[in-house]
Amino acid sequence: MGIVSKIAKRFINPASLFRIVSLQRNRKKIDRTRDDAQLKLYSQILKGDFLHYGFFDDPTIKAEDISLNQIYNAQLRYAELLVEKLNGNGKAVLDIGCGMGGLLPLLESKGYAPTALTPDNTQVHYISQKYPHIPLLHCKFEDLEGAKYKGKFDTLITSESLQYLKLDLALPLLNEVSTPNAQWVACDYFRVGDKAEKSGHYWEVFLEKLKVFGWELEFEQDITPNILPTIAYVYLWGNTIGMPLYNFAVEKLQVKAPGFYYALQDALPEVKHKIEKNLLTVNPEVFAQNKRYKLMVFKKTGLK
Ligand SMILES: C[S@@+](CC[C@H](N)C(=O)[O-])C[C@H]1O[C@@H](n2cnc3c(N)ncnc32)[C@H](O)[C@@H]1O
Repeated sequence: MGIVSKIAKRFINPASLFRIVSLQRNRKKIDRTRDDAQLKLYSQILKGDFLHYGFFDDPTIKAEDISLNQIYNAQLRYAELLVEKLNGNGKAVLDIGCGMGGLLPLLESKGYAPTALTPDNTQVHYISQKYPHIPLLHCKFEDLEGAKYKGKFDTLITSESLQYLKLDLALPLLNEVSTPNAQWVACDYFRVGDKAEKSGHYWEVFLEKLKVFGWELEFEQDITPNILPTIAYVYLWGNTIGMPLYNFAVEKLQVKAPGFYYALQDALPEVKHKIEKNLLTVNPEVFAQNKRYKLMVFKKTGLK
């Protein structure tokens, strides 16, 4: 039986049709933070256990000249820069949104005692296998029981995970779970332009909330030019490989399965639009206009 007949059979059979409709109607709202398919995809492509944009010492490097090894090296460099900012006051470090745990061995090699935290099931599974000796908290940071971890951590790290946190919950909690002289080291991007797509906190709003919740920005370095090569690399791949592959698949479908193509014809422009919209988020020029990527160190001033 051909593809088209197989699909048609499901729609013609009343029991199958009922199942299609009820599965679609009763679909659960997925909590993306527990099973982030996008981060899972990155972790399969990037073998270095990092899920951030990396840091290129040479921001003028062209996307066409970048190799995967250079991306791994840039990611390691980014992690090293972050760890260099730790002031060594105390060993207990909480790596919030630890991803695939790439930072953990680096912290250990410098004598720190890291605790990892992530809400993501794939990441928890991976880290618990690879680093069974490292304490691992499986939850969103906002859901961490503050009283249980009160004053426990000397250093807090958010490596490209601050953008996911709800500031009104996370900022006071960062205060609660850390020691009186705690340091918070963060690296992430912020929205500065009005036209920026949704991800990232607004920089001005973030600065206001910092003050309210007892944190002071002690150090700030704009590393946007240094992370842009990775974005340009992803954009290049999406445009030169991803889009032509999509067009090729659609043309093949039209020739090999015209019935199936006919059934999908109205939905295809929407799929294409979605891909193009996603590609826009990694358009280096759009990113540079609307976002700022910062390496930051915060000092605890405490809640009044
Ligand atoms: C872009 S990845 C960065 C991972 C890692 N820090 C790195 O630099 O490779 C974002 C991380 O934040 C985590 N995350 C998302 N929402 C979170 C939340 N509410 N609390 C804590 N972590 C969260 C994700 O599961 C993921 O581990």
